[in-house]
Amino acid sequence: MCGIVGFVGNTPCSSLLLDGLRRLEYRGYDSAGIAIADDTGQVRICRAEGKLTRLEEAFRAEPFDGTVGLGHTRWATHGRPTESNAHPHRVGRVIVAHNGIIENYLELKEALQRQGRHFSSETDTEVVAHLIDEALATGADSLKEATWRALDRIEGSYALVVMETENPDELLVARHASPMVIAHGDGCAFAASDVPAVLSHTRDFVFLEDGDTALLRADEISIFDADHRPVDRPIKRISWDPISAEKQGYKHFMLKEIYEQPARIVDTLRGRVSVDRGEVHLPELGLDADTVAALDKIVFVACGTSYFAAQIGKYLIEEVARVPVETELASEFRYRNPILSENTLAIAISQSGETADTLAAIREAKERGARTVCICNVIESTIARESDGVLYTHAGPEIGVASTKAFTTQVAAVSMLALLLGRLNGRLESDRAQELIEALREIPAHMETLLQDVDVYERIARQYSQATSFLYLGRGNQFPIAAEGALKLKEISYIHAEGYAAGEMKHGPIALIDRELPVVVLCPKNAVYEKTFSNVEEVKARGGRIIAIGTDGDHRLQNLADVMIPLPDAPDFVQPLLSVVAVQLIAYYIADFKGTDVDQPRNLAKSVTVE
Ligand code: M6R
Repeated sequence: MCGIVGFVGNTPCSSLLLDGLRRLEYRGYDSAGIAIADDTGQVRICRAEGKLTRLEEAFRAEPFDGTVGLGHTRWATHGRPTESNAHPHRVGRVIVAHNGIIENYLELKEALQRQGRHFSSETDTEVVAHLIDEALATGADSLKEATWRALDRIEGSYALVVMETENPDELLVARHASPMVIAHGDGCAFAASDVPAVLSHTRDFVFLEDGDTALLRADEISIFDADHRPVDRPIKRISWDPISAEKQGYKHFMLKEIYEQPARIVDTLRGRVSVDRGEVHLPELGLDADTVAALDKIVFVACGTSYFAAQIGKYLIEEVARVPVETELASEFRYRNPILSENTLAIAISQSGETADTLAAIREAKERGARTVCICNVIESTIARESDGVLYTHAGPEIGVASTKAFTTQVAAVSMLALLLGRLNGRLESDRAQELIEALREIPAHMETLLQDVDVYERIARQYSQATSFLYLGRGNQFPIAAEGALKLKEISYIHAEGYAAGEMKHGPIALIDRELPVVVLCPKNAVYEKTFSNVEEVKARGGRIIAIGTDGDHRLQNLADVMIPLPDAPDFVQPLLSVVAVQLIAYYIADFKGTDVDQPRNLAKSVTVE
């Protein structure tokens, strides 16, 4: 849930650390800190509560520099977001930054306190610093040895970067159930919880495995496995352009990411679909005709926006492949007693690949014998590594906390999956597959058209941003888009919103409708158009304010609506990829009009790696 960056080399590193933290701020932003050692071993620490700008101000007031250092940006789990709880934590010779949760920290803390050790924070992390310091004080002959001793006593998850004042030319890095990458530069080495932190300095990364530790020096990196044996890990080249992690002139990352969607969908489809043959190639999933023929069902597990992508997957797969699909919130699935078999395909959907509930759910499915695959955006993330097969979305780094391009690439991925399953089990004819693949390939161009005219969203923002509540309605595969539209609005504008199946409106929410309630209705021309249109009439009859998202040229809908957002005409199968852009833009322009923190909404974090 936090971000870490570390550097060891021969050049001053304060700017690099602060820049790395800036690129990691999406991982946590309630406090931040850096520690830098000069070559005499003198270490200075600067920490600040709040966003990174507060740390930068504090650092500028009393600057310092050195050639070894680490930085941390925090999203609190144990202890309030205060300066004293901000990382790095120093105990004696040891300085530590940590991501994750030490589950047995209270027990360890009490034991350490009984030995007379004094704690200066409320964090679980400080326990780690004490344990390493204690190991050094009781005979461990190196930082590496001391860290291993400390880790033996810890239960929980961690990505750690450790410095020691006696050895100011090295950093010790450790990983368990929390991501950590390392990289070699020219006369230097880097450590980071996420690739973008140091992507402007290198593209070649080593993804540490669970239980690994690594010793970083300017001229060499040594990696050790969970049994402390030296080990080689492969170097992976990351092709993301560092500039793609910047805002590129857009006011917010979220807006930039909304506009990136056509290109990211092209990337996601590239090389995987063939219109001519009506085929989809996803060998990375390891599915063949026999496996698919034997499937008893598919179970999607996911959270938040990724869960709505799963719901769309259900509609599409059942439609074209006729395989039964269940969708389940990962946080519910993991504590139920789900019925799975070796013929069940469990699919996790996760942008980050680190969401704790989704990870636990996919582990649960695996334990119960199901085949597991995931749809994921982060290469080598934990969920990706633990699944039997991975279908990577190619959304690139998503910085805005509110998910946009990750969602549409997930929907593109489940669409391809539906087509693949249908072709493998023979339920989808080649001609029909060709039509649907063609429709998918046309989506980026349609999205470009949609993104050209934003006046309507600015108008909606001016007219409706004072509303205290919104209702979103949709049927069929537009129902998950209604839910996603409501989630987007809640997340970034803090306006209450509900996404409802349009047919359910008369079973309750209809009571809410009055002149004050904006109702966003997803009503493109599709198989359930007439049914949804009746719901629009019901809203109108009760004086509700209608924002209709429908097919371009639908004058009947336009006449009924207060505002109409026209969508390019497209087959039902791909319509969610268009209507979602409209609900993203409604949320964005309302939030921007209200002046909320669009990219880092209050109380939210990009990657929810704790329960
Ligand atoms: O990384 P994941 O896709 O597993 O994340 C799941 C949710 O936490 C995420 O989609 C969340 O709901 C977003 N903030 C939605 O915009």
